[in-house]
Amino acid sequence: MLAKLWSWTDPYPLLRPIMFRLEPERAHALTIQLLQRGWGPQEAMRDDPVLGTTVWGKHFSNPVGLAAGFDKQAEAIDASFALGFGFSELGGVTRRAQPGNPQPRLFRVPQAKAIINRFGFNSIGVDAFAARLRLWRDNPHRTQRPLGVNLGKNKDSTEEAADFIALMTQLAPLTDFVTINISSPNTPGLRNLQRRDALDQLLGQLQTARQTLTPNLLMLLKIAPDLDEAAQHDIADLCLRHGVAGIIVSNTTTTRSSNIPDDLAQETGGLSGQPLQQLSTHVLRAIYRLTDGKIPLIGCGGIASGEDAYRKIRAGASLVQLYTALIYEGPLVVRRIKRELAAHLKRDGFASVQEAVGTAAAR
Ligand code: FNR
Repeated sequence: MLAKLWSWTDPYPLLRPIMFRLEPERAHALTIQLLQRGWGPQEAMRDDPVLGTTVWGKHFSNPVGLAAGFDKQAEAIDASFALGFGFSELGGVTRRAQPGNPQPRLFRVPQAKAIINRFGFNSIGVDAFAARLRLWRDNPHRTQRPLGVNLGKNKDSTEEAADFIALMTQLAPLTDFVTINISSPNTPGLRNLQRRDALDQLLGQLQTARQTLTPNLLMLLKIAPDLDEAAQHDIADLCLRHGVAGIIVSNTTTTRSSNIPDDLAQETGGLSGQPLQQLSTHVLRAIYRLTDGKIPLIGCGGIASGEDAYRKIRAGASLVQLYTALIYEGPLVVRRIKRELAAHLKRDGFASVQEAVGTAAAR
């Protein structure tokens, strides 16, 4: 019944206060359960052709994707796609199962339409994760839209490259792309892999392994928004030299905007949502310029409207992703973003998403 309700009204303004009364992690678990039962919206409309785009030779019926962290354990793959996403990124998954940080580790900041999280890769581990993906793949009715998996390293692992290679090898037959996540602020030392020498070595090892073990797998890199110009320059240069297929800009920020109340601002973790928007778009534009538009970029951070998505595309994103807006705006936000984005593209005379990519990134 609830699934039908979504097609003629938006019950989220009524649902949200109920959800917000629950402890945030509990509310998320409930959301996944409701989606699994088919109680979320089921996008029935075909995507407007202007939203269609081809990246890495793959067709995306729209460029709006689900960001990593929402479906960490591959529990609601088709149910999330049913919200209307053009692609989805599952995970982060780690090689061995691990519990992540102690709770509480997820905090709402309603004043800023933001979230702070310090999950620290709670993961069922790649064996169980791959088993779920295999089941999903065997379902003839599953969506054919592109799917990716976000890869993290185990907290106690000292061999990052070995972790990533094992994950890539196991997941390659099951996914269109993997994302090497070196930008989560919640695993000690992980973000140091963004430094020039460490990244050069890591990408070299991963590409060598990929070329021999899984040559068809697309390997993307996800970076933090908290990088100075020198670091942005190094990352762009290394991604070009190592032939990284795509860069996701960005993960959450460790900075705190002024509209975050003090008690919450002090919580350790990564901040997402509205306060991340400008910062992540700024870094996205910089990376687009530094890579000369040669590497497809995925813009992520604070997208809650068609205009936000459009701004990322014009700053250089071939695709976009979101997570936090689902919490504040509800699941119909995906439909709304697509409708508004199509209107913006048409208004400005673009015949496709591709035509608009990077048009506001001139030096
Ligand atoms: C995340 N994000 C994330 N990113 C990642 O690469 N691996 C992960 O496991 C997670 N986990 C995660 C959990 C939670 C609760 C949140 C809110 C976010 C980051 C996410 O994919 C995205 O990069 C940021 O949230 C910015 O986008 P939004 O949320 O502002 O649209």
